[in-house]
Amino acid sequence: MNVIAQHRPKVSPERDPSTLSNYYNFKVHHTTLAFEVDWEKRILHGSSTIELEATTNVSEIHLDTSFLDFGSAAINGENAQFKFGEQGILGSVLQIVCGSEIPLGTKFSLELKWNTTEKCTALQFLDKNATDGKREPYFFSQCQAIHARSLLPCFDTPAVKSPYTFSVKSSLPALMSGRPAGVEGNKYKFEQPIPIPSYLVAIASGDITKLPIGPRSHVYSEPSRVGACQHEFEHDMENFLQEAENLVFPYEWDQYDALVLPSSFPYGGMENPNASFVTPTLISGDRQNVDVIAHELAHSWSGNLVTNCSWEHFWLNEGWTVYLERRIQAAIHGDATRHFSAIIGWSDLENSIKAMGDNAGRYSTLVQDLKDRSDPDDAFSTVPYEKGFNLLFLIEKKVGGTKVFDPFIPYYFNKFKYSSLDTYQFIDTLYDFFKDHKKQLDEIDWESWLYKPGMPPVKPEFDTTMVDQCYNLADKWVNAVKKGEDLSSIFRPSDIEVFTANQSVVFLDTLASFNKLDNFQWKDHQDALHVIDQVYSAYSNSSNAEVLFRWFVLQVGGENRKFYDRLGQWLGTVGRMKFVRPGYRLLDTVDHELAVKYFHQFESGYHPICRAMVKKDLGL
Ligand code: BES
Ligand code: ZN
Repeated sequence: MNVIAQHRPKVSPERDPSTLSNYYNFKVHHTTLAFEVDWEKRILHGSSTIELEATTNVSEIHLDTSFLDFGSAAINGENAQFKFGEQGILGSVLQIVCGSEIPLGTKFSLELKWNTTEKCTALQFLDKNATDGKREPYFFSQCQAIHARSLLPCFDTPAVKSPYTFSVKSSLPALMSGRPAGVEGNKYKFEQPIPIPSYLVAIASGDITKLPIGPRSHVYSEPSRVGACQHEFEHDMENFLQEAENLVFPYEWDQYDALVLPSSFPYGGMENPNASFVTPTLISGDRQNVDVIAHELAHSWSGNLVTNCSWEHFWLNEGWTVYLERRIQAAIHGDATRHFSAIIGWSDLENSIKAMGDNAGRYSTLVQDLKDRSDPDDAFSTVPYEKGFNLLFLIEKKVGGTKVFDPFIPYYFNKFKYSSLDTYQFIDTLYDFFKDHKKQLDEIDWESWLYKPGMPPVKPEFDTTMVDQCYNLADKWVNAVKKGEDLSSIFRPSDIEVFTANQSVVFLDTLASFNKLDNFQWKDHQDALHVIDQVYSAYSNSSNAEVLFRWFVLQVGGENRKFYDRLGQWLGTVGRMKFVRPGYRLLDTVDHELAVKYFHQFESGYHPICRAMVKKDLGL
C-alpha cells in the first residue's frame, strides 16, 4: 500500500486537470437549461440559470467554454463583466467578475446567454439525406469527455453535479437527458431531478418516434426503423434492468429509454441518463449486440450515480460498468458467458496496447496522468474498460468469489451515489469493507495494476468452454496452411454456421493473432486467404460490424488486395470510432494513399470528434 500513499493527492477527491474552471469554489444546487434550435444556421441559442453557493469567498466565477458565441452574464439579475482566455486544447476560460466579493456560504444565481457556433465539437447537424428516412434534418450531441463546454458555459468536470430542468424549442421532436415533462407547442420539456455531471447533458432532435421495449423502457428512432429497433431490444430490456437491480439496488432514474441514432454517431453507446444514445449498427436483426444496452444501462449506477471525479480515474466509470455488464449477462446466460466476454476483452486489450506503440507507456496505465492538460479523448482506449474489469474480477476472486464480493456492490454504490470520487476513495472503501480480507487484498500488486503500463500483472484463468470450438477451428486452419494441405477439401461453410457472432469474433481474432507467432505471417499465404474467403464467404456479407471488422483485419492485414477497397467503402458507412479509427489505421499500414483518399471522400459525413481523431491517426 506504500505506492498508493505515494500517489495520494493532497485534496480528496483529486482535482480535475481537464477543466479551466474554479469549480472547487462552488456548490451547484440546480441548473435550468433552455435551447432553441436554428436549423438554418445549424446552431443552438442557449440560456441557463445556475443556482450556486460559494464554498469560499469568491470574486470571480471561471467557467469552461469552447467556441461559444457568448451573449451575456448576470448575477442575481445584475449584468456582470466578463472576459475570455485564449482557446486551447481545453477550450477557453470564461471569467465572470462578481460586482463585489461574494462571501462563503452565499447562495446566488448566475444567468447566461449564448449561441453555439459551427465549430461546436459536441454537436453534429445532419442534412436530411444523411438520415435513414431522408425526410428531415437531424442533430445530436456527444459531450463526454470534455465537449459539453462547446454546447454550454459550465463547470465542465465530472466532479460537479447538478439537477436540471431542461427545455428545447424545435420544429422537430426533441429529446434531452431527463424525464419527459410535457410538450408545449414546439417546446419539449424534461426534468432531471438526480444531480448529473455536465458530460451527461444530451440533446437530439429530428424525425424521431418511439415504441415500447419493456414496462419502463422505450426505443426512439426514425420511423423507418423503429420497428426493427423494438424487435432488437424488447426481448432483453426488462431482464437486464431486473438483473442489474438484483446486483446493485433499484433503478433510480424512473424510465430507461434508448435512442438509436443515425450512423455517424461516433460511439457504440453513450449512457445519457433516461436516454442512452446508441449506434444503429446494433440493429442487426439477431439481438447479438444487446450487450451494448446492458453496458449503457449498467452506467445508470456506475458513472451516472457514482462518477469518476476526473478523466484520470475514468476506469472507475468504465471498468465497473464492464464488470456489471458481464455480471448481468452471467445472471441471464450463466457464468461461462461472462468468461467468454472476458476472453474477448482480454484479446482486445492486447491488441489495443500493441496498437499504441510508443504511446503505450503513457496511455496503458489504469490511472491516467492528464496533468499536462492534454486532451482526454487522446487517452481513450480499451485499457480503462478491460484492465478495470480485470482488476475488479481479481478482487472478486481474492475475497472469496461472488458470494463474498457481492454485498460490497450495493455498499459502494450507495456510499458514493450522487457524488464523484477518485481511485483512492475506492481503495479505502474496499479495504474498509473487507477488513477481514486485508491479507488477501494485500496480495494484489497495486502498483502494477494502477500505475504500470502494459498488460495486467496476472492473467486470470478464464473458463474456455465457449471458445474452445473457435480456438480448435483456428488451429486447424493454421496447421493445414503450414503443412500446405488442400484447404478447400478440408474446410466447409458449415464450420462457422453454428457460431454466434461473438464466437466468430473469437475465431477471427485467433486466426489474426497467429501473425508473427512462429514466424507465421498471413501475407505469405495469399492462397490460403483466398480459400478462406471462398469457404467462409458469409463473412464478407456479415451484418454484424464486430464480425465484419475482424474479417477485414484478417484479409487486409494479410495484404489481400481484393479487400482494400471493400474496407475503404465500408468506412463510408460506419461512424463508430471503434471501427473507423482502426479501420483507417489498418488501410494506412497497407496503402497510405488509399486511406487518405477514402478519408477525404467520407470526411464530411463523420462526426467532428471522429474526424479530428482520424486526422491525427493518419498524420494529416
Ligand atoms: N461512456 C462510453 C462512451 C464514451 C467514453 C464516450 C468516453 C466518450 C468518451 C460508453 O458507455 C461506452 O463505453 N461505449 C462503448 C460500448 C461498450 C459496450 C463497451 C463503445 O462505444 O464502444
Ligand atoms: Zn461505458
